[in-house]
Amino acid sequence: MKVEEQVRQTLEGLGVGDEAGVAGLFDGLRTQIERELAGLASADAGEQFRIRWLGRKQGLLTAANDNWLKPAPPALKRAVGRLLNEVKRQAEQSLEARRRELDAGSETARLAVQRLDVTLPGLRRPIGARHPVQIVIDEVQEIFLSMGYSVEEGPEIESDYYNFEALNMPREHPARDTQATLYVAGDYLLRTHTSPVQIRTMEKMQPPLRVIAPGRVYRRDNPDATHSFMFHQVEGFAVDTNITFCDLKGTLDYFFKRFYGEQVQTRFRPSFFPFTEPSAEVDISCIFCSGAGCRKCKQSGWIELFGAGMIDPALYGFVKYDERKYSGFAFGGGIDRLAMLRYGIEDIQLLFQGDLRFLQQFR
Ligand code: DAH
Repeated sequence: MKVEEQVRQTLEGLGVGDEAGVAGLFDGLRTQIERELAGLASADAGEQFRIRWLGRKQGLLTAANDNWLKPAPPALKRAVGRLLNEVKRQAEQSLEARRRELDAGSETARLAVQRLDVTLPGLRRPIGARHPVQIVIDEVQEIFLSMGYSVEEGPEIESDYYNFEALNMPREHPARDTQATLYVAGDYLLRTHTSPVQIRTMEKMQPPLRVIAPGRVYRRDNPDATHSFMFHQVEGFAVDTNITFCDLKGTLDYFFKRFYGEQVQTRFRPSFFPFTEPSAEVDISCIFCSGAGCRKCKQSGWIELFGAGMIDPALYGFVKYDERKYSGFAFGGGIDRLAMLRYGIEDIQLLFQGDLRFLQQFR
């Protein structure tokens, strides 16, 4: 018998029966509810059951208040009300219990599928390694940050003005020839050195300045063990009142001792750069033979590393600093070379080929 039919009969029965008859009718309903509950196969079905019987408006038992209680003869109202509440409470409790059973069942099923086999080998996640060039950049920055320097950056596509002009290398100046430039278009080029960051920084900041600027630079060089069209430099400079060549020597001597070890000596040889006056090449005592002379230092005992000097006052003209008030030093050099010496790497190409067997050695 369909439930709706049973409900209708129950209603009609209420009109005629006595209390015992009414109880019998409700028993039939109870049996029907329990049978439906037992047949539920999923949480979804459980929800449908709830809506059908206990739903807030249309639920069969919810509607019973209006459908059954009101038309019941006054003498039976109490009994009908009590039985109705009982059936409702029971239906709720049974549904709750059945839902728990269904949940537990699906949990068991899930565990059966997803059983964890702790004897299986784990999934190996490859751990990355820092690139040796990045390791050196990080360490150089750390040393200079400890001396109160800050880090600045500039664009790799640079204008002729910043790369050459404002560094005291006007058009047609022969010093430009030493840097085999890759021109992009018009007045733009791939920066040949990190020195343009000096100009950019001085344009936007006032002394006192202590800055390093690491980054990529580009030159039209043919690749071999010591040349690459792209490599890395670090620029450093300080501008303040009363900065002297002694400050430059002390700073670089301290840097190289911290980077390569206390035993390292520095040597400054006179040189020329358009943006420094006076200028110097900075050598360190050979870290392989401690200066005795070996293949690495071409028997000289020294290894050439940085260019440096006192910032040429001509640069202050471009950035509108008062050259009578301020002085400064600057230095620059190759990061790849610092790394190659540190790790005994003989071919710069290894740094840029992305061979993991090589790169994974540096962590
Ligand atoms: N910019 C120069 C180069 O790439 C290196 C250099 C030399 C930088 C002397 C400096 C300096 O700041 O003072 O060859």
